[in-house]
Amino acid sequence: MENVNRKIHAATAEAIDLAARLLSKGKLVAFPTETVYGLGADAFNTEAIARIFAAKQRPRFDPLIVHISRIEDLDAVAKPCDLAWRLADAFWPGPLTLVLSKRGHVPDIVTAGLPTVAVRMPDNSIAIRLIELSGRAVAAPSANQFGRTSPTSASHVQESMGHVVDMIIDGGPCRIGLESSILSIIDPGRPRLLRPGGVPIEDIQRIIGPVAEPEPSAAVITAPGMLPRHYAPRTPIRLLTDAHSASVQTDRRIGLLALTRPVKAQGYTAVEALSESGDLTEAAANLYAALHRLDAAGLDLILCEPMPEWGFGAAIMDRLRRATQTGNGWPPANAEWKT
Ligand code: TXA
Ligand code: MG
Repeated sequence: MENVNRKIHAATAEAIDLAARLLSKGKLVAFPTETVYGLGADAFNTEAIARIFAAKQRPRFDPLIVHISRIEDLDAVAKPCDLAWRLADAFWPGPLTLVLSKRGHVPDIVTAGLPTVAVRMPDNSIAIRLIELSGRAVAAPSANQFGRTSPTSASHVQESMGHVVDMIIDGGPCRIGLESSILSIIDPGRPRLLRPGGVPIEDIQRIIGPVAEPEPSAAVITAPGMLPRHYAPRTPIRLLTDAHSASVQTDRRIGLLALTRPVKAQGYTAVEALSESGDLTEAAANLYAALHRLDAAGLDLILCEPMPEWGFGAAIMDRLRRATQTGNGWPPANAEWKT
């Protein structure tokens, strides 16, 4: 029987229209993108943005991505350089977020007081229609509690954010399943990847040449939200050192997250294979749903096999390393800000 409190609406034209009106009234709407579900609010309504931070229990130092529905709208929120237009032409709509100098009227609460703004145009017709109809740029983090596993379905959003969001548009499972890649081009001569994601770094480099990799250490924080511990299920979770998980002999309930279905591993209560054929793109699309299922299985521990680090593997391993970090990772020792 359907719960009367369910906020989920099928993505009909009427529902998208209603959602756009809610956004323009300062409400919070969760919507599908090609990467993960976003928790959207009018980027220029500071009260609505404050509600996003409260709903997610997200620290105010962690800025939001501004979503636009047309490439030319980039100019309304940021000061795009030539490289920005080249990248937008090559990858938008799509899972690449660009960090650029911001326009003065973008509220400080969106950018956590930084002089820069992160912008992207999602490759999802529901998201595009919603942003277009709302007549606004839409600030949206992933629609999960801060630090937790990101949602790739409307029901993931309902489970963790159903009580705080005004409406959830159901667009089915997210095609890519991992957040956008974030590229800082504040210094166009030295583009830097801040977060690996939906566009593999190899694809970006094919268009613009060398790109600096994310800082390996937490000592210098190039993206304020790039905390060491992130994307984590509630269940304790650890990364294995090699990909040939042996059998376990224990009376504890252990789950295994693997790329392909392991032949030998026995003794696990639950096993999630991300791609039967070992395809990393398919694995990325299945990652968060598999983590949500393992987290709901009443396990004592989740073990993750490492994945190869090319293509989508780099972004998958970034998420697994952060999900398996112990401690909340904040503040890291010797932390210094760098923007
Ligand atoms: O795929 C995505 O990017 C999804 C969908 C909903 O678009 N959004 C998403 O948002 O992943 P969120 O808030 O979960 O992650 C945004 C990241 C944070 O790590 C934040 O620190 C970083 O973007 N960020 C935002 N503005 C920034 C800025 N001006 N400089 C550096 N990093 C920034
Ligand atoms: Mg997030």
